[in-house]
Amino acid sequence: MYKRTGIGTLAVFTALAACTSNIENGQRFTAPTMVGQPLALSGFVDRPNTTVEIEILDSMQGFVGIGSTVSSETPLFVGGDPTPLYEWSISVVPVPTSTLLTRRWPFGGLGRLRAVEVLGSIRRVLYTFDELSCLNTNWTGSWSGTGVACQSHDNGTLTLIHAAILPGVLPSSSGDTWLNRRENSVSEASDYVTKLAGGAPPEALSDFKTRNGFGGADEITATYFNAADLGFGREMHCRQTSASAGSIACYVTNYGGFTGGILAPEVDALHDAVRGVDEFATVAMEFDGTSGANNVKFYVFDDAGSQLEFAALDSEGAKPVPGICLSCHGGRYDPATDTVTGAHFLPFDVSSFGFTTEPAFAHLARAPQEEAFRQLNALVARTPLTAAGADLIDGWYGGAVDVAGTPFFEDYVPSGWSSEAYVYQNVVRPYCRGCHVSIGGLEFGEFANLLAAGGRISTHVCTTRQMPHAELTYTKFWTSSARAHLSGALGLTAGCGN
Ligand code: HEC
Ligand code: HEC
Repeated sequence: MYKRTGIGTLAVFTALAACTSNIENGQRFTAPTMVGQPLALSGFVDRPNTTVEIEILDSMQGFVGIGSTVSSETPLFVGGDPTPLYEWSISVVPVPTSTLLTRRWPFGGLGRLRAVEVLGSIRRVLYTFDELSCLNTNWTGSWSGTGVACQSHDNGTLTLIHAAILPGVLPSSSGDTWLNRRENSVSEASDYVTKLAGGAPPEALSDFKTRNGFGGADEITATYFNAADLGFGREMHCRQTSASAGSIACYVTNYGGFTGGILAPEVDALHDAVRGVDEFATVAMEFDGTSGANNVKFYVFDDAGSQLEFAALDSEGAKPVPGICLSCHGGRYDPATDTVTGAHFLPFDVSSFGFTTEPAFAHLARAPQEEAFRQLNALVARTPLTAAGADLIDGWYGGAVDVAGTPFFEDYVPSGWSSEAYVYQNVVRPYCRGCHVSIGGLEFGEFANLLAAGGRISTHVCTTRQMPHAELTYTKFWTSSARAHLSGALGLTAGCGN
């Protein structure tokens, strides 16, 4: 779907009821069912007395009319624009009967409405908006200019969500689970750990730290809450282990975690992390400076520092290494050689983290740690990254991640996403980028990549619901408007999640 770049006449479709409830693209409705639910819609056109029809996408009949109204005769002048606007408003019932429910607005799925101005045989689809506030903040002096600048990616379709779906429930029939796309067996995990140790007994955490020279002044540390894909309090330690070899090592102690399948809240996880108490596991990685097999290695240690062959990173419990790590860090495990190829360190997305607000730990708030995150990202930038990963770190720091004091520009949008920045910021950045930046071939570095994967995205996000592939990210995705924007951007016409 591509945005329209010019309009002959102005056609604005906003929706509001007595100026209290604005309906934006992606709005969620929480009523138990959409059957019989009225929807108050309104908007503006640049002609008085013109007919505006509301249509809904019906899976059997295409767009069908569900009501029509005419615009007012009273001109409205706004923001100094000499072109008058004429308001229209209407109340429609998108799904009048339960027989029409699955065709028009399947349970948990998406409803797609549009407003059409009828000018004899010409039918003009009116604009919709992702954020009505854009009309104020990006006012260009004219309604037509502002309409073009602020229009949604959705090409006139208002995609609305019926939120009555249980987040966190994957379809029982598919047998899918989280973090299993790179799954390996328990015995392969044992082989992997044996290979890491090179014949010696598996290393303890204390040995890992000593071997990698931790404990000195050149160690970079940061304490934060990973709110995007793991939901743990974390104390990160990284250092360059050899400048000549270009090798790097990190270990990160995790706090909070799961008790009886329930994830500890952020405030509790941070409470423990800033005090360094009640850790539940430490995970570690090394990059040896080469490009060969096993150049990036993964380790897991329990709270006593003994090495494990599995990690528990969601409510489903323990899953074998290294496969569980590769779900986010990319790469593949080769059972023939017990090695991993093509795995990546992950960039530190500071804007996605949570930080302590306890006055006694003010030094661990975000601002005092920005420089440590820059240094951590500078280390990550020295490891092999995908093109999208390298571009992300360059974009965050304006190409100067190695320069002390360079601030983090969190709203960076890659150039290949400039025309669809809203979708990037509201779908890809929060729900896909964390993993896909390390998944070669599916990096989503530009909008064209997302479009090209449209069919697979429809299957894996909307139908099998295997993506987003981490439990926390999945839950956040399903309680947001993201699937409406994703489906609008890809021009999908079926429901999503039913
Ligand atoms: C759900 C996604 C996810 C999984 C699974 C995952 N990680 Fe990570 N990991 C991240 C993210 C995101 C970062 C970047 C820092 C952060 O957000 O905490 C990271 C960073 C790290 C780092 C610091 C170096 C770097 O890449 O920035 C280490 C060490 C690490 N992970 C080890 C592991 C190990 C070992 C496993 C497997 C047991 C694992 N991770 C599994 C998401 C994941
Ligand atoms: C926790 C990590 C993670 C998150 C979050 C995530 N993915 Fe994935 N995704 C993966 C992994 C791992 C694969 C498997 C890649 C492979 O097999 O090459 C994958 C594969 C896919 C595929 C290809 C599936 C196939 O079998 O053809 C699509 C499409 C996809 N993801 C879309 C998305 C979208 C869209 C989002 C965000 C809404 C997302 N993913 C979020 C990890 C993730």
